[in-house]
Amino acid sequence: MSELWIQPTGAALAADVHGVDLSQPVSDEVFARIADAWGKHLVLRFSGQKLDDRMLMTFSARFGELDRVPVAAASLDRADSDVIDEAREWVAVIASVKKDGKAVGSLGNYELVWHTDMSYNALPPRASLLYALEVPADGGNTGFLNMYAAYETLSPELKRAIEGKTCIHDSSRNSAGELRKGFQRTIDVRHTPGAVHPLVRLHPVTGRKALFLGRRPGAYIHGLEVEESEALLDAIWAHATQEKFAWYQKWRAGDLVMWDNRCVMHRRDAFDESLRRLMHRTQIVGENVLAG
Ligand code: OGA
Ligand code: MN
Repeated sequence: MSELWIQPTGAALAADVHGVDLSQPVSDEVFARIADAWGKHLVLRFSGQKLDDRMLMTFSARFGELDRVPVAAASLDRADSDVIDEAREWVAVIASVKKDGKAVGSLGNYELVWHTDMSYNALPPRASLLYALEVPADGGNTGFLNMYAAYETLSPELKRAIEGKTCIHDSSRNSAGELRKGFQRTIDVRHTPGAVHPLVRLHPVTGRKALFLGRRPGAYIHGLEVEESEALLDAIWAHATQEKFAWYQKWRAGDLVMWDNRCVMHRRDAFDESLRRLMHRTQIVGENVLAG
C-alpha cells in the first residue's frame, strides 16, 4: 500500500487522507498520524474505501466509545435497513432511499440547517463518521464550518459579550429545523427545552477555544433580556456561518468523512427526492463540555 499522505483542502478546514485502506487493521503508528491530522484539520475525508458495517465500526471505535444510534422517527423500521444485525445499535442509516414506499433511513432529501450533532444533550458526541454507499451525481453536498476560526475572528466586542456566557441548545427541533414529535413550539426562548452549554468551549485535546453553537432556533443566552439574546445570537451566527469558514464535501461513493463535533458545525444541501443517497453513520460518545 502507498504511504499515508495528508492533503489539506486549502479551505478553512478539512483534509484528504490518502494511502490508507480502512478495511484493513490500522497500525498504532498510522492511527497516531490520522489522529494528529484530525486535530489539525477538524474534518478528514478518506476516499475510495470499501467498508462493511463491521469495518466502519472497528475504525470508528479507534476514536472512542461507539455511541448508540439516535432514536429514529417512529415511521422508520430498522429491520428494513441494510445494516447487518450486530451493527444495528451502532450504525445509523442516513438515506433518501425507500423500499416498498417506506424510508430505510433518516433525514430524507431535505436541507439540513447548520448544526452541531445532538448538542441538546449534556454530553454531545465527540465525532460523527459518515460513509457514502450511494450518492446522487448532483446535490446533497455537506458543508462544514471551522468554529475555532469563527471564535478567533470575532470582534473584541462580540468576544467580550459572550465571555463566560451559557446558551440553551434546543432539543425540540431536528437538524432540518422541524419540530420533533411530542414537542411544543417554543414561544418564549427562556423556556426552551434542552441542554445548557458555554458559548465558548475549550477543546479537550487541542486546548483551543471554539465557538459552540447548536442550532439557531430556540437558542437563548442566559442572563440577557430576550431581545438582547436574539441580537447577540444573530450577530455571532452571521459571523460564524460565513463562507470563509466553510468547506463543502461533494460526495462520491466510497467516501468516509469524519468531523470533530466539538469544533465543527455542518449542514446539508437538499437534493432531488427522486435521487438515491445512502450513507451509514457512526457516532463517538463525547466528554464533558469544558468552558473556554
Ligand atoms: C448527520 C448529518 C449530513 C448529510 O448525519 O449528522 O448532518 O450530509 N448528515 O447527510
Ligand atoms: Mn448532523
